[in-house]
Amino acid sequence: MLVTGGAGFIGANFVEYWLGAHPGDRVVVLDALTYAGNRASLQAVEGRPGFEFVTGDICDGGLVATLIRGRAVSTIVHFAAESHVDRSIVGPEEFLRTNVLGTQSLLQAARSVWMPDGKALGPVRFHHISTDEVYGSLGPADPAFSERTPYAPNSPYAASKAASDHLVRAYHHTYGLPVTTSNCSNNYGPYQFPEKLIPLMIVNALEGKALPVYGDGGNVRDWLYVTDHCRAIERVLLEGRVGETYNVGGGNEWPNVDVVHRLCAALDTAFAADRSLPARFPACPAAKGRPVSELVTFVKDRPGHDRRYAVDTTKVERELGVTPEESFESGLRKTVAWYLEHEAWWRGVMDGSYRDWVQAQYGDSSAARPAGAPAPTD
Ligand code: NAD
Ligand code: TYD
Repeated sequence: MLVTGGAGFIGANFVEYWLGAHPGDRVVVLDALTYAGNRASLQAVEGRPGFEFVTGDICDGGLVATLIRGRAVSTIVHFAAESHVDRSIVGPEEFLRTNVLGTQSLLQAARSVWMPDGKALGPVRFHHISTDEVYGSLGPADPAFSERTPYAPNSPYAASKAASDHLVRAYHHTYGLPVTTSNCSNNYGPYQFPEKLIPLMIVNALEGKALPVYGDGGNVRDWLYVTDHCRAIERVLLEGRVGETYNVGGGNEWPNVDVVHRLCAALDTAFAADRSLPARFPACPAAKGRPVSELVTFVKDRPGHDRRYAVDTTKVERELGVTPEESFESGLRKTVAWYLEHEAWWRGVMDGSYRDWVQAQYGDSSAARPAGAPAPTD
């Protein structure tokens, strides 16, 4: 199996999950190690027989073809992408390069090695990981996105993912490449880079920084615990029908402001239960017995901010028996506990190129500062 973007958030969780569930398999991770990719996220599998890491760019078709041929790859799971909407608003070019051209380069390499005479030489699969954001935005009473909902991407990120989905479809339709695609909702859990809502709020709270809620905080996302997503991908790989797309969601819609307040409450509880936390994170209000929610700050909205995402999971449930196991309460509890236990990981990934990028965009080195957020007060 070749896993692109395996040093990123979902990819790293997937590799750990897959090698746990299929210990005899061989997995090669191909990752360019951008700011979002970190070898430290693969610590659980480094050194295991069957695991290999290759630093490289998915746009390098020659490298990809060499890997597919040389490692006898029969399955590609394609996670590699630029994945953050705010960054795509500031600089869309890299999103088009990686998400569109990179996906095309992978498809072409797979086709050239797997189908030299126009027919697949053996059982092979290209699985593409995509997002519910390709479907656009829902009103409060609209039905959830199904696989038949027309595409209407609103951000440069969503547009680049929509384009990649179309290329995957076209390689199947035109050349017969055996593909599947899954479009999932917002993931959360361990190893997520602290620029996305949930880890950003945890890390900012621990450092006593403002918790920037965009607009009125009423935008709704459907939250999916990352391990539930990994299980769904496994089912699609093993039983999914070639040429099909599957929507995967958590059945778990929440307005952002509620998510932030639940995280604040989880941190209040954690500080009350663990006496080592005030000394480790003295800037957090909970260290002084004050509620973390005092950090919540409403800031300027994200341009073009999609109001609501919700996913109709009927197809993946009916055909593949996929349902989420994690409740939002247990998933958030696990996630908060993970970030409290892995301070070295999040401090490590927020150093270096990420800090440089924030410096270049915003003119200061305050890491994890989102688009639209006011200047930090600390
Ligand atoms: P991430 O940003 O955490 O990780 C992306 C990984 O891709 C990083 O390891 C990065 O180094 C690597 N990468 C980037 N450009 C590359 C290139 N040119 N060549 C090789 N590697 C490259 O992303 P994520 O949150 O893990 O998302 C994984 C996939 O899932 C993406 O395709 C994303 O669009 C999709 N997705 C994510 C979510 C979510 O909530 N995180 C939701 C729906 C869909
Ligand atoms: P995000 O994690 O960036 O995922 P996506 O934009 O792909 O859904 O954001 C999730 C929601 O949280 C989205 O509605 C934007 C909002 N948000 C904030 O309110 N403040 C923040 O600092 C961030 C990063 C996101």
